[in-house]
Amino acid sequence: MLGAPGAGKGTQADIIAAKYEIPHISTGDIFRANLKEGTELGKKAQVYMDRGDLVPDELTVEMLLDRVAKDDCKKGYVLDGFPRNIPQAEVLDKELSAHHDAVDYCINVDVPDENIVTRMSGRRSCPKCGAIYHIVHIKPDKEGICDKCGTALTQREDDREETVRKRLAVYHEQTAPLIDYYEKKGLLRTVDGTRDMKKVTEQIFSILKD
Ligand code: AP5
Ligand code: MG
Repeated sequence: MLGAPGAGKGTQADIIAAKYEIPHISTGDIFRANLKEGTELGKKAQVYMDRGDLVPDELTVEMLLDRVAKDDCKKGYVLDGFPRNIPQAEVLDKELSAHHDAVDYCINVDVPDENIVTRMSGRRSCPKCGAIYHIVHIKPDKEGICDKCGTALTQREDDREETVRKRLAVYHEQTAPLIDYYEKKGLLRTVDGTRDMKKVTEQIFSILKD
């Protein structure tokens, strides 16, 4: 899943993963889990995440490659937030092809910058199970409480407006070049992420069928 911060990658990745019964692997979620557990990796990553910068590749790439090598990934998996720059994409391709494997699709969730900042200020997520909501667009049944596990919803530290703007700048500079990278490989499929969540899902499922 490719797209700007807040484009809806995590929301859609969860739905795809549930439908195909494959893992949803978000590098951002892995870093946040480490942060919560107070691991060394979490402490190191936090410095970059709080600033809205990318965590260095030395900390990210091996962690991701270890994760996709696990048994539950044998049937496939949804990557969300990785790769996030050209060097990460190149390492991923190299590693996958060494195992006679490859990326099947790059789903680019397209949302213009002007929609992002307001979207992010309304995001709430579950600190326990990771479910994602929005105070206006995707409300939980009971305000402030996760539908799936009953935990009180929280706001992400990096969703402050200033940090969101920085994350957007980093996206345009380092991540957006991947659009061209996957286009050239014939793997890019762009969906309109400004539409209703269910419509976005429909568009993605119609792509995954072919
Ligand atoms: P990460 O956690 O990946 O954050 P991100 O890419 O900035 O994306 P978000 O998770 O903020 O947004 P999303 O696209 O998942 O949107 P969501 O579905 O939540 O990364 C965080 C940090 O970790 C990075 O800044 C970096 O420091 C580090 N990091 C992670 N991976 C890295 C890597 N590979 N290399 C280096 N560093 C890395 O939706 C957003 C909101 O919109 C929600 O409220 C949702 O309910 C709502 N919404 C969703 N769809 C719709 C819709 N169609 N209409 C209306 N609202 C919608
Ligand atoms: Mg996400």
